[in-house]
Amino acid sequence: MAFTLPELPFAKDALAPHISSKILDFHYGKHHAGYVTKLNAAVEADSSLAGKSLEDLIKTQSGGVFNNAAQVWNHTFYWNSMSPNGGGEPTGAIKDAIDKAFGSFGDFKDKFTKAAGGHFGSGWAWLVKEESGNLAIVDTHDAGSPLTKGQTPILTCDVWEHAYYLDYQNARPSYIEAWWNLVNWDFANKNL
Ligand SMILES: [Fe+2]
Repeated sequence: MAFTLPELPFAKDALAPHISSKILDFHYGKHHAGYVTKLNAAVEADSSLAGKSLEDLIKTQSGGVFNNAAQVWNHTFYWNSMSPNGGGEPTGAIKDAIDKAFGSFGDFKDKFTKAAGGHFGSGWAWLVKEESGNLAIVDTHDAGSPLTKGQTPILTCDVWEHAYYLDYQNARPSYIEAWWNLVNWDFANKNL
């Protein structure tokens, strides 16, 4: 069964003015879709990969298969990490877990913003739950996935230039500031 591009969990213009529909046309319609197409071609070319789930491929493969599988998974997770009704301060269990791990939401926001802004080149900033149950902020390079380290992703921010260049050019900090207005705390609570 071929992998398919999941539907966006919101309308293409619903994240504006923080992220424009023009970005989503390319980021979702070209980049995310492209990873799905390339993954399907790679799986079709190697019968040993037939029937494996996306998570299986991420945890067991390397090179192009890993890169495309992880980018498919990461982007779906990224769309769900945002909501037109998101932003503001966390509530519920995720609020308590953030306070416990980082002291306060403000301290968490500062640390996450630094991790996302300071990541060199293409990659991802993540809030994850470690195997110990504690929350941590990590950044991964290129297609890198916390799933390979036994961490449970809670939220992610894509810091590849394709995530922001059309709206913000090289100003990654402005994009990250805008991303905070979209953070889907309901999704974070579900993942916790
Ligand atoms: Fe991306």
